[in-house]
Amino acid sequence: MDIASKSTTPEGDPQPADAAPAPHEPQIIHRSDYTPFPWLVPEIALDFDLGLDATRVVARLTVTRNGRAAPADRIRLNGDGQEPLSVKLDGEMVNSWAMDGHDLILPLSADAHEIEIVTQIDPSANTQLEGLYASNGMLCTQCEAEGFRRITFFPDRPDVLSVYSVTMRGPKAQFPILLCNGNEVASGEDEDGTCWAEWHDPWPKPCYLFALVAGDLVANSGTFTTMGGRDVTLNIWVRAEDLPRTDHALESLRKSMKWDEETFGREYDLDLYNIVAVSDFNMGAMENKGLNVFNTKYVLADPDTATDADFDAIEGVIAHEYFHNWSGNRVTCRDWFQLSLKEGFTVLRDQLFSQDMQGEAVKRIEDVRILRAAQFPEDSGPLAHPIRPDSYREISNFYTATVYNKGAEVIRMMRVLANFGSDSDRFRQGTDLYFERHDGEAATCEDFISAIEDGAGIDLKQFRLWYSQAGTPKVHVKTAHEGDTVTLTLSQLVPTTPGQADKQPMVIPLKIALFDREAGTHGGESLIVLDETEKSFSFNGYAAKPVLSINRGFTAPVTIIRDASREDLVLLAAHDDDPFARYEAMQELVVGHLVAAAMGTLGDGERAAGEDAIATAMGAVLEDSQLEDSMRGELMMLPSQNYLMEQIERADPGAVHAEREGLKVILGTRLADAFHALYDRVEKVPFAGEGARGARKVKTQVLAYAAASDPLKAVELAALQYDNADNMTDRQGALMALCGLDSAERTGRLIDFYNRYQGNALVIDKWFTLQALSLHPNALEHVKALAGHPDFTLKNPNRVRALYMAFAGNPHAFHDPSGEGYRMLADLILALDPVNPQTAARFVPSLGRWRRIEPARSALMRAELERIANAPKLSRDTYEQVARSLDG
Ligand code: TRP
Ligand code: ZN
Repeated sequence: MDIASKSTTPEGDPQPADAAPAPHEPQIIHRSDYTPFPWLVPEIALDFDLGLDATRVVARLTVTRNGRAAPADRIRLNGDGQEPLSVKLDGEMVNSWAMDGHDLILPLSADAHEIEIVTQIDPSANTQLEGLYASNGMLCTQCEAEGFRRITFFPDRPDVLSVYSVTMRGPKAQFPILLCNGNEVASGEDEDGTCWAEWHDPWPKPCYLFALVAGDLVANSGTFTTMGGRDVTLNIWVRAEDLPRTDHALESLRKSMKWDEETFGREYDLDLYNIVAVSDFNMGAMENKGLNVFNTKYVLADPDTATDADFDAIEGVIAHEYFHNWSGNRVTCRDWFQLSLKEGFTVLRDQLFSQDMQGEAVKRIEDVRILRAAQFPEDSGPLAHPIRPDSYREISNFYTATVYNKGAEVIRMMRVLANFGSDSDRFRQGTDLYFERHDGEAATCEDFISAIEDGAGIDLKQFRLWYSQAGTPKVHVKTAHEGDTVTLTLSQLVPTTPGQADKQPMVIPLKIALFDREAGTHGGESLIVLDETEKSFSFNGYAAKPVLSINRGFTAPVTIIRDASREDLVLLAAHDDDPFARYEAMQELVVGHLVAAAMGTLGDGERAAGEDAIATAMGAVLEDSQLEDSMRGELMMLPSQNYLMEQIERADPGAVHAEREGLKVILGTRLADAFHALYDRVEKVPFAGEGARGARKVKTQVLAYAAASDPLKAVELAALQYDNADNMTDRQGALMALCGLDSAERTGRLIDFYNRYQGNALVIDKWFTLQALSLHPNALEHVKALAGHPDFTLKNPNRVRALYMAFAGNPHAFHDPSGEGYRMLADLILALDPVNPQTAARFVPSLGRWRRIEPARSALMRAELERIANAPKLSRDTYEQVARSLDG
């Protein structure tokens, strides 16, 4: 049977129409090629004989014909790098099967069959951390997106849902704890020292939600009683020495369960909820049904080893994975092009949760900052793609800020459109209908939009463009005043992105307010919706020209270009009652100044005027006694180097960096007294005192300005803060400032930090990151040396990211004019690719920005991409990212 030469298959798998691709060019999968799978797999029984080096898997599949698909005379079971040891069909050993690449093809003639396949895998050789792998002496799985095929042969696609029954056995000394999805049915021990357990998950699920964990673990346990009265046992499983740092995770889980009942009406549906922390993990965490697997980074925390930001991140990720139980598991995705259906929606849900837990204003500002730092650059570069992509070679490359964070913003806009000016929660009516309609199904983004339309009673016809068009829209705003009428004229431009030359106008909802210049107040918010290329909106009753506050709360993920004067921005930075808009005015003031300065288009007079305006606004921020410190900390932060570079067609990273640092010197010098008075006040706030978190945030900000403007003083302050710290936030903040300053204190505290936390991998990660991110002139050399440190390893993704993601985000080191930084990153990608392709590919976008960088550096970046492209053997992951970065 010559399967490989067929261009279409009855198995419903997308196949390339042309000849087999060259080894370097993995096939492209297209969204438009979707067809349902010809077989249903209502049940699967799995039997695991566990060993770190050899695990034997017996899979028994019940298959029946899918009446909604074209009939087929065979079944395609996906595999990845394995050989079946035996294949049985309806109880009989058969050899009618054939391999097609990695997949197993088995002819089937009747309407229902039982297939049994035996495979053997070596978890300890699995360094790519997909499928079943060993971490720290335990065994665990990661199946999303396509890891299940590395465990056994199966239709590895999210629209095939099965009920799982699983048996596991292994040596008790190694694996006393055996966990799987659902509920434990039975367990026991044999006399030979083997232990075993049987698990059953009553909820049908796609194989990407399968999970298994075996190891020597202990749990921090609790309970939660659901709104329906179901008692749920909660366990946070970790290695014994980590148990004291699990209370926050457990508490976060309880809060998430309660919040999802109150806010979205979602109740948990099993008697057990297990979370396991593992040290080797490609991403943050995974929502496997009833058995979440987490990166230790998002579980373990106590004040001595985790910062305030770490605590918040844990709460957010625990919530995210919990919320997936409905948005992802009960309603899953039809195919991987629909990824934003679960990820965008779940990110929105975790953001709204964290707003309620941590404070709406600051959380919203942080989320927008993340979007701008990570997603905007993606949307304006060679890897730009719509939140619902049209094609991919490797789906792992599409777990992006676009699918996750822009996806969340798009659904947030639907919420604004549904709820603005309405006294009922119409968005909630939409999500209720979505869950009701699609419970138990594998759905599409289109299904979600339709449910919101029907449930909320709104029309999202044109709005759907947000799912298909990539690129961050630019909105130009002009304000005119005549008589007592203000007219806003808005026009939009959706930029060209790879493969999308012509764009339609999007639906852009913008919350606005018009401020009276004298009083510093406004008469109420309005929502204007820009849904044409250009549109005007008029407002009466304004005798004097008001100051426009627009995109309040960041209602739309767009770039606003407005004709606001410096004075207007200073007014909004001081008076806007929308916290995001206030932050935004401050940012705009600084961005306008720094971008012009870095591009060399700022005359001397303009420069002085800009500096004065920024100093005035910053002075007001430092001294405003009405302001909470957590908000003050946000307003004190300068726009990131990446965001600034993003505003320039071809940026000179050196110039942007110099201007940004220069502004810190100016502000730190001019406002020295205010900064010091502020530091003196916040420094006295005790660890658990009121407003203590805000106080700590402000402390670190002051140190950053001091480090730029008065290094000697900064060293003194930071060393003292380090020595007196009773928590990681203060200690890390102090060490961060010290890291950028050449001094004996720097060396001494770095050694102290390392010795103090030796053996705590997550804190040693911070030690790597602080040095890789530092403003120290020799940061590049430091990174090179750290790559050779005995604690550095390519095997642990957290450690690799701690050093190299930080480095790639450190403009003055990474963009060193010599090109040395680019070479180092390319060397890392090449070395990491054979070990862990998924993680290796995540470093490519940093080089992929080459077109947006000044010509000399740009050529060096491109040359490194070409060097990677020419490597003899590349993973599909890295190949795709490099190819897109060079073509795009
Ligand atoms: N679904 C996971 C999440 O919410 C993402 C994830 C975890 C993942 N591990 C992965 C995606 C491995 C791809 C590969 O957010
Ligand atoms: Zn998710």
